Amino acid sequence: MIKINVTKASSSKLSDLDFANIPFGKVFSDHMFTADYIDGAWTDLKIIPFGDLGISPVNLAIHYGQSIFEGMKASKMNDGTPVLFRPELHVERLNASADRMMMPNIPKEIFMEAIHRLVDLERDWIPNEPGSALYIRPFMFATDARLGVQVSETYKFIVVVGPVGPYYPKPISLLAETQYTRAATGGVGEAKTAGNYAASLLPATLAKKRGYDQVVWLDSKEFKYVQEVGTMNLFFVLKDKVITPTTEGTILKGITRKCIIEILKSKNITVEERRISLDEIFEAHEKGELLEIFGSGTAAVVANVAKFDWNEKSIVFEDVKTHKIANGLRDIINGLRAGTEEDSFGWIEPVRSQVSAS
Ligand SMILES: Cc1ncc(COP(=O)(O)O)c(C=O)c1O
Repeated sequence: MIKINVTKASSSKLSDLDFANIPFGKVFSDHMFTADYIDGAWTDLKIIPFGDLGISPVNLAIHYGQSIFEGMKASKMNDGTPVLFRPELHVERLNASADRMMMPNIPKEIFMEAIHRLVDLERDWIPNEPGSALYIRPFMFATDARLGVQVSETYKFIVVVGPVGPYYPKPISLLAETQYTRAATGGVGEAKTAGNYAASLLPATLAKKRGYDQVVWLDSKEFKYVQEVGTMNLFFVLKDKVITPTTEGTILKGITRKCIIEILKSKNITVEERRISLDEIFEAHEKGELLEIFGSGTAAVVANVAKFDWNEKSIVFEDVKTHKIANGLRDIINGLRAGTEEDSFGWIEPVRSQVSAS
């Protein structure tokens, strides 16, 4: 049995929260889970009041980037039961990121117990509004205090949670990025590691200045093949099939992406995972065969793409309300989370309720 010590906050910030108006990533609940990796084992598992960490100025993660994270959500079924969505896939991906970054794995039982206990304690922070959820951020970073590029011997694993509203309330506009790249073969593109996001900031900021929401990353060799978008995987609906880029070690293996592929296959819709060139997309568009483009991710769920630009070329969808595949998928995933859609896949995991905390 996993033992987690719980120290409750002396007061709650919950009454300060306006559930109808939650900014993404700025509001966090009263508590967090923390554990330390020392001498080859995870110890000191505890839930404590949310607060600052004391960090050495020579912390290895700050200098050399051994830092990984996950993003997942808890929601409430219509009967009020808090549920998680495929949490086991998140611990598997966290550990895959850990392997790439020479960090220790977090045992599945510790990860699950931490998430269940924390979400159970913070259940009142889960919003009821459609498209809203409790965002869960598990993360791990090196804690050795010394300089020199090396593998840290100690780490911290922390989970914080906070309510979020819809990530992209509006359809998004994308720009194919033809100067900068996110990931190259053999690199760390498949790992959910902090540096990947740092490297995305400059191109994303330049694109935002030009009025785009995000850049579309292309392959680093030829700038020809589509990879993914900021924090989403990409899908294209052609006449009679849906296509999405193969991950090939350079693209994050999105859990929403996996769900979408499984949902589409269950509906006998052809899905192809393969290399997709910009030429193919723009040619399909010219022939009138490109019906929809959408992004998928935990934060955004399914985001309709209204505009997709590549140099001088532009694809514009005037009315994304007609995008049956994207909108249908969003309804199914949100419906599964809310309990209005039957969980025939077995993806929904009710949060275990604790009567008393030690
Ligand atoms: C770079 C990147 N691609 C894709 C995704 C979508 O993955 P998921 O569906 O697991 O949230 C994310 C979000 O985690 C991401 O950060």
